[in-house]
Formats: sequence, structure tokens, C-alpha cells
Amino acid sequence: MTTAATPLPYSPGLEGVIAGPTSISKVDSQRCSLVYRGYDVQALVEAATYEEIAYLLFHGELPNQTALSTFRQLLASHRELPPPVLAAIQSFPKTVHPMDALRAATALMALHDADVEDNSPEANLRKAIRLTAQFPTAIAAYYRASADKSYIAPSSSPDVSHAENFLRMMSGESPTPLSVKVFDMTLICYAEHGFNASTFAARVTASTESDLHSAVISAIGALKGPLHGGANEEAMKMLLEVGTVEKARTWMETALAEKRKIMGFGHREYKFGDPRARILKRVGKDLGEQLGQPHWDAMAAALEEVMLAEKSIHPNVDFPTAYIYYMLGLPIPVYTPIFALARIAGWSAHVMEQMAHNRLIRPKALYEGVSFRPFVALAERG
Ligand code: COA
Repeated sequence: MTTAATPLPYSPGLEGVIAGPTSISKVDSQRCSLVYRGYDVQALVEAATYEEIAYLLFHGELPNQTALSTFRQLLASHRELPPPVLAAIQSFPKTVHPMDALRAATALMALHDADVEDNSPEANLRKAIRLTAQFPTAIAAYYRASADKSYIAPSSSPDVSHAENFLRMMSGESPTPLSVKVFDMTLICYAEHGFNASTFAARVTASTESDLHSAVISAIGALKGPLHGGANEEAMKMLLEVGTVEKARTWMETALAEKRKIMGFGHREYKFGDPRARILKRVGKDLGEQLGQPHWDAMAAALEEVMLAEKSIHPNVDFPTAYIYYMLGLPIPVYTPIFALARIAGWSAHVMEQMAHNRLIRPKALYEGVSFRPFVALAERG
């Protein structure tokens, strides 16, 4: 007598499933908190820089002054792209999405990276640092080429921060200290977030003992979607569609009545609020006041109020980031690449962690197709 096997648990979208251990960050849904290597992200945003966070994610500890200087020098010395990669980026079609350009640029970076096939921890760290240093250059180079603007080379000075270097390469002008600070804060919030879709995609690729560049390319593809990183661009388009503070409430009521998905709202993990959105909302409000553009925060607040009252759904990190980037004068199509520019640190840390304690990631599928049936020869098929 055969007994039916007990069905294995199944959770659509892997919701609530623990897919593996990590020591890199803790996403606490109940407390609405996010911790990188034990440090609350709020404290990191207030007092640290993106370079310190990238170091923390890669090495597990915050750098002391000497280690930070060395790390900044290393990043600055790798900002230039290999000339054939730069030339190729400048020849990409001008109309493709910058995430597609970044994905292709990363594939080209792999072709010119002598360590590409070396999965040792030392080589992975070298590759992670190069990708972190070169993503801003690749994104800015494609943006300027696609907008028929001349290329602005990265600064090789470690005194020019990661944030300042990117803003300079985008606009060709020296950004204000306020812009640099605010942009850096958003990079810290975007740097890492547990087993989100793009990081998980990177870990799946890494688990096959592929290579770091391939894992990062998987992650870029996953991040592009509007349910993930693509939401910051869509959120800004929505704010522009709303238009004014006065129209915000009615706009949201109508959108919800039409069952529209509101970009920049909702989160698989944070059902009671996204800590990064709370941090950046305050940053966005202050920035708006200082720049004489308080209407973005006011519009966002009106939209949030209706969403919360009607659906109990909170804004996520992509909502305040959208209007912060808009106020910083950044073009909307680079918002998701900026997310990648920051998240490369988290992705790389996860690839290194996966490879250090690897087990192939290969879940089961719940088969819902036709059950077993006899084969029908070609001549007998109607
Ligand atoms: N706008 C409108 N309704 C939303 C919503 C949003 N942004 N987010 C969730 N909901 C609704 C769903 O339609 C669903 O309603 P229902 O029960 O009546 O069908 C309910 O809230 C539960 O949502 P669900 O889709 O199960 O949540 P999830 O955990 O699967 O989805 C997201 C999380 C992020 C995919 C989802 O909130 C979303 O699509 N948000 C917009 C995209 C976005 O901002 N992404 C960036 C995330 S950082």
C-alpha cells in the first residue's frame, strides 16, 4: 500500500520563506527597522558616508580613519573605465533605457577584467571595488552620450567623494555641499536590503559557481522592473502627473477607485512602514524648504494620507527618493541606475557571502500542468 506524500509547504512569491542565512543586513518587518552589520541604518545615514557603508558591507566592520583613506584611494583610482568599455557605452543607441545600458556596460566590464574567472575572496573583493568605482562613470557616461553632451571624466582624487564625483559627472558642474550630502544619504539607504529580488537573483547566479559580474548582471535585470528598483522612476512620473498639492487627494482617490497600482507605495517586508522612507521623507522635506520647493513634500504627504486612510499602505524608499532626485536636478531615467550604483555594494557583499558558504540554490516547483498521459505519435495527432 502506498501512502500519499505530505505536500511540501508552498508560499506564492516565496513570501515569508527563509531562503538562507546572512550576516549582512537585518530587515525587521515588525519593528520597521533595517540594520547593516548590526548598525541601524538611521544612525549610518546621519553620521557616515557611502564609502564607509560600502567598506562595512564588504568587510563586516566600519573602517578606521586609515582604512577609510586607503579605501577611498582605491575607489578613486578605479573610477576610469577601460577605454574600449567607455567607447562602447558612447556608441550604444541613444534611446535605450539606461538600465539596459548599465547591464550591457557591466558585461563589457567583465570582458576587460583580468579577475573575471577568479572566484577567490581576494579577487571578488577587487572586482567588487572596481564595479563600485565604475558604475557611476558608466551611468553618467551613457546619460551624457545619449543626451548629446560631452563626456565628463571621473575625478581621480580621493578627496572627491563617491557622491560628489557622480553628481559632477552628470552635470559637469560642482554640486553644492547640500546636494552631495543629501545624495549620499540616499545612496546609504539604497546600499543593501537583505534577500530582495535583485540580491536573490545575484545569489542564485553566484550559487552555481558562476562569477561576480554574471551575478551582478542578473541583479541588474531584476532591479529594472517597476515592482522593484524601477519604482522610483514611476513614482516621479506619477508626481508630475498629479501636478499640484491641491490636486493630490482627488488624484489618489480616483487612482485607488480605478484600482491602479501606486508606485512608491507598499512593500513585501514592511507592512507597517519602510524605515528608509521615513528617514528620506525628512531629508526631502528639509531639502524642499532649503531649495524653495516645499510643494513636493506637501504633495507626497497628501497622497500618503489618502493611501494610508483607504488602504493602510505606507510609502517605500522609492517614493521620497523620487522627488529628492528631481530636486537635485537628476534626469528621471537615471533614477533606477542610481539605485544600482548604490546597491552594487550590497550585491557584491551577498555574492561573496554566498560563495564563502555555498550551496546551490535550486527550489522545487509546484507542478500544475497536465498529469501523466501517453505519448501520441505525430501522424496520429489531429
Ligand atoms: N498600490 C495599490 N495597491 C497596492 C500597492 C500599491 N502600491 N501595493 C500593494 N497594494 C495592494 C495590493 O493590490 C493588494 O490588494 P488586494 O489584497 O486587494 O489584492 C494588497 O495591497 C497586498 O499587496 P500585495 O501585492 O500582496 O503585496 P506584495 O507584498 O506582494 O507587494 C509590492 C509588494 C512592492 C510588489 C507592491 O506593494 C507594489 O507593487 N508596490 C508598487 C511598486 C513599488 O513601489 N515597488 C518598490 C518596492 S521597494
